[in-house]
Amino acid sequence: MKIRVGIEALSIAVPHRFLALEDLARARNVEPAKYIAGLGVSQMAVAEPGEDTVALAATAAARLIKNESLDPQRIGMLIVGTETGVDHSKPVASFVQGLLKLPASMRTFDTQHACYGGTAGLMAATEWIVSGSAKGKVAIVICSDIARYGLNTAGEPTQGGGAVAMLISDNPELLELDFGVNGTHASNVHDFWRPIGHREAQVDGHYSMQCYLDALQGSYRSWKANAAAKEILRPDGTLPSEQLAKIAYHVPFCKMAKKAHLHVRRVDTEDKLGHAWTPELEAEEKPRSEASFKRQVEPTLSLCSKVGNVYTASLYLSLAGLLESEGDALAGKRIGMFSYGSGSSSEFFSGVVGPRAGAKVRALGLSALLESRERVSMEEYERIFNHPPSEPISTHAAPGTFRFVGVENHRRTYQEG
Ligand code: HMG
Repeated sequence: MKIRVGIEALSIAVPHRFLALEDLARARNVEPAKYIAGLGVSQMAVAEPGEDTVALAATAAARLIKNESLDPQRIGMLIVGTETGVDHSKPVASFVQGLLKLPASMRTFDTQHACYGGTAGLMAATEWIVSGSAKGKVAIVICSDIARYGLNTAGEPTQGGGAVAMLISDNPELLELDFGVNGTHASNVHDFWRPIGHREAQVDGHYSMQCYLDALQGSYRSWKANAAAKEILRPDGTLPSEQLAKIAYHVPFCKMAKKAHLHVRRVDTEDKLGHAWTPELEAEEKPRSEASFKRQVEPTLSLCSKVGNVYTASLYLSLAGLLESEGDALAGKRIGMFSYGSGSSSEFFSGVVGPRAGAKVRALGLSALLESRERVSMEEYERIFNHPPSEPISTHAAPGTFRFVGVENHRRTYQEG
């Protein structure tokens, strides 16, 4: 008997402040259009030290458990995908398990591979369920990160932060994954990394975009082969990517999702014609690709354009934005997902949207959550950026949220609001 598996529900936590990219551009003497149109980002989340990876992860997971009236005894596994954890040994997952007073009977661990870490957790959880080891229990997978580059660097407008918590089960009301069809691609590259002890990422920006596209090509071709073998793709002459109602890509900044989609169409076209891309083909294909981007990808970017890069959570923030705006129309339709983690590891996978997905995600009020944030000035942003990470600016946790409140005897302490 086929086991259904995938995402049953999700929930989100974001820092309560944001910076408008037009303010950043003016302060850096850059044309605002470069950030807003050129990178496709209008706002980015600004996390203060009290809103660390643990606090955001715990807040997102608490909301998920509350919204779903989930009996904690049903949770058999808690995984946190992150590349901005707070300790070299102790995983974020163990803090979350303690803060939420979850049962001791569960398995907890973190997964790390840059922005791919959350997807590694998602796949571990789905395989645990399909293997039968879950014995009817469910998993919570949380993607939580704070993206940080240096002040006055090219990466500065691509920061952000937040967490997405997902309930993974055999009742995938949001997205039933096409199990066993995923395509993967890995390569040892230095496109983006963060040496031990550094708070800011090192990045070779333009090279990182090429690494992303190379990984996408490898993963996507591998997914296509698997999807064709399982007869998920129809051999009817349409481009395989057009057989997916929408595609959500990892979004370090929104323009990257556009570059990714144009690349996928290029791969499809080359595979269909059996020869390499030419400038003539590019000119001919451009209007079709632009239209396809607007139709298949733009609806995934609504939340990402206001939160910025959330590393592991970015892909799942795209999914949330898509389901919030178009979930009803997508019921029963197959969508594609591409996860990229620098370094690199990547995965292209697909799934079918559930009938209640739109209603469930709309009930979360995600757009309203973003609207309720406070806009900070450049002075405030730089003050927060330069604040020592072990000293929270505020120790007040709003109701329903968690906050890092300080370090005592080398132990990080948190407060529940
Ligand atoms: P840059 O070099 O300053 O920007 O930084 P640029 O000169 O390439 O310009 C950006 C875009 O703005 C270009 O568009 C310009 O044409 C356009 P494109 O040609 O690429 O389509 N532009 C304008 N548009 C309108 N009006 C104007 C104007 N001026 C220019 N006046 C860069 C860009 C992405 C390199 C930088 O922000 C950066 O280093 N970011 C961090 C690295 C990154 O995000 N890489 C993405 C791929 S790797 C990845 O996704 C993994 C990651 O999430 C980490 C992980 O896995 O953990 C990062």
